[in-house]
Amino acid sequence: MEYAIEMEHIVQKFGEKEVLRGIDLKVTRGEIFGLLGPSGAGKTTLIKILTGQLEQTGGNALLLGRNTRKIQEVHQRLGMMMDQFGLYERLSCYDNLKLFAKIYGAEEKRIKMALEKTGLFEDRKCMAAKLSKGMRSRLSLARAFLSEPEVLFLDEPTTGLDPATAAEIHKLIREEQRRGATVFLTTHNMEEAYKLCDHVALLNEGNIVEYGEPEEVCRRYNHQKKLQIRLYDGELVELPNDRRAAEILKDYLEKEKLETIHSTEPSLETVFMELTGRRFV
Ligand SMILES: Nc1ncnc2c1ncn2[C@@H]1O[C@H](COP(=O)(O)OP(=O)(O)OP(=O)(O)O)[C@@H](O)[C@H]1O
Ligand SMILES: [Mg+2]
Repeated sequence: MEYAIEMEHIVQKFGEKEVLRGIDLKVTRGEIFGLLGPSGAGKTTLIKILTGQLEQTGGNALLLGRNTRKIQEVHQRLGMMMDQFGLYERLSCYDNLKLFAKIYGAEEKRIKMALEKTGLFEDRKCMAAKLSKGMRSRLSLARAFLSEPEVLFLDEPTTGLDPATAAEIHKLIREEQRRGATVFLTTHNMEEAYKLCDHVALLNEGNIVEYGEPEEVCRRYNHQKKLQIRLYDGELVELPNDRRAAEILKDYLEKEKLETIHSTEPSLETVFMELTGRRFV
């Protein structure tokens, strides 16, 4: 099976409001896939459909080859991290995981492994209610991959975390990929999407308006194709990013005049601001 997830014209309406207007996407096995889009675009809604928590108005989705309308057939093979799947506040980290291990039929020895992996072993007896935000995220993540799922859904796994904690979570996500898991995540952090994802899709006003490898997407929006140069004497120079710049650059380098040089391909953030007309926060 080449694809972990296949979506065929997924439509979701809430009353009159059409939130998803025909989503066609495929997520390859073993990849980290990032779904991006402004707040309210329908990212969480799509995750809910793919994980069988919401039945879509139209279209079909396959998860590991099975229709998500019959999610119970593959339920044990997926893991998820979402806000509304609250932790049991009065239970310790260990007991939270123990409860989920029972539900997911995971062996108890996996609990220790998950706690160690997420750096929570020392705090295993700490009540969930007393955890910091970063620790809660790590506990949710530990729970998501407790059963070594084949597909992981992570809805904003790093929102609100400091850069170091976010980096730890990135490392854990990459480890899951190395183990063979497919990861479907959402994020508002474009730098995170650029670094972490094999493919990204941008959801805007109910449609996928861009899809590809992050670098490829950025290159597609390189309208300017310029080189921006700063010389040691403070002068700023803009040159066309082609052979016409070669002689001038050679001269700068030989005379050791060149301080910085940048090409003008946009960042993922710039691309998505152009496409959505909004800034991501
Ligand atoms: N159960 C529901 N009933 C009615 N409307 C809903 C329901 N669930 C979601 N919506 C609406 O669907 C739209 C998409 O919501 P969703 O939570 O999927 O957005 P999102 O892309 O995840 O946003 P965010 O980035 O803020 O998390 C919103 O306008 C929301 O109000
Ligand atoms: Mg959401």
